[in-house]
Amino acid sequence: MPKRLSMAALPTRLHSLPRLSEYVGCELWIKRDDETGLGLGGNKARKLEYLMADAVQQEADTVITVGGVQSNHARMTAAAAASLGLECHLVLRGVVQEQQGNLLLNALFGANIHCIPPGNDREAKMEQLADELRSDGRRPYCIGVGGSNGLGSLGYADAVCELRTQLPDDTDFGEIIVPVGSGGTYAGLALGLKAHGMRSCLQGIAVDDMDFAPIIQEIAAEASFFGLPPLEDQDICLDYGFLGPGYGIPSKAGCRAIDLLASLEGILLDPVYTGKAMAGLLRRIETKTAGNDGPILFWHTGGAPSLPAFREALTSFEAHDV
Ligand SMILES: Cc1ncc(COP(=O)(O)O)c(C=O)c1O
Repeated sequence: MPKRLSMAALPTRLHSLPRLSEYVGCELWIKRDDETGLGLGGNKARKLEYLMADAVQQEADTVITVGGVQSNHARMTAAAAASLGLECHLVLRGVVQEQQGNLLLNALFGANIHCIPPGNDREAKMEQLADELRSDGRRPYCIGVGGSNGLGSLGYADAVCELRTQLPDDTDFGEIIVPVGSGGTYAGLALGLKAHGMRSCLQGIAVDDMDFAPIIQEIAAEASFFGLPPLEDQDICLDYGFLGPGYGIPSKAGCRAIDLLASLEGILLDPVYTGKAMAGLLRRIETKTAGNDGPILFWHTGGAPSLPAFREALTSFEAHDV
């Protein structure tokens, strides 16, 4: 197996959500990957344990990655690089309105920010930057969007092993809900569930309008190099009904879900990923489409550090119009 650095606070908590369960009339649990700790936590910590180990093994002195202006992946990469004494460059696509949320934290972690306008190719910009750094004598390590490749996804195959050790014998979740933004978390979880023979249906809630099934298959194919079983088409279940106005743009249903979990359980979600995934979970219960042969697990992937950047959306929706 490839090397892995210990960067995250693991295992993350697994606990029930008693007040939300009572509210929706269905047993709900949560896996707290918002508490992985690295640079305020989130799902990327598990991927970065493998990716940063690879960077160190390749003797990189600089890490470059890409994302949206409020990317959690970029913020956590910046924190990981700072903790290892590596220079960090972030190519962030989008319109910067104010230095808030993750953008502010990136600056505190000492990252170099390269903002590019919407529509531009951020991977091309990353490659160009890597060439420039190499010609200055530096040794850059590039991480693609979301850290979603075969190596990064191993962190989520491991997470299933962690989940299994936390579950009482013979307990299985009917359904596991997780947001899908670049596919690596979903691919790793699907591979881990398969490798451990767990029957839970893994339901991905897409937060972008990309065709994720082939992307997830490609990541899984890369991971099979490390001995994981291949995924079949029927292992991938995606719902595109909660994207709202588009990637990175808050939806009313997502904002309501954030409000509900915060007020009933004291747990924070975010408007880009986990709020939309929770909106999906609530709708699946309401319409009785969620797997009903066991409790439902919400895999919390983090994102709350971006909340201050979404103040307007979070204060202007009608909170209790559920
Ligand atoms: C908070 C949060 N949740 C979920 C995701 C989606 O994970 P993945 O990119 O592995 O699909 C991301 C990705 O950036 C994220 O930041």
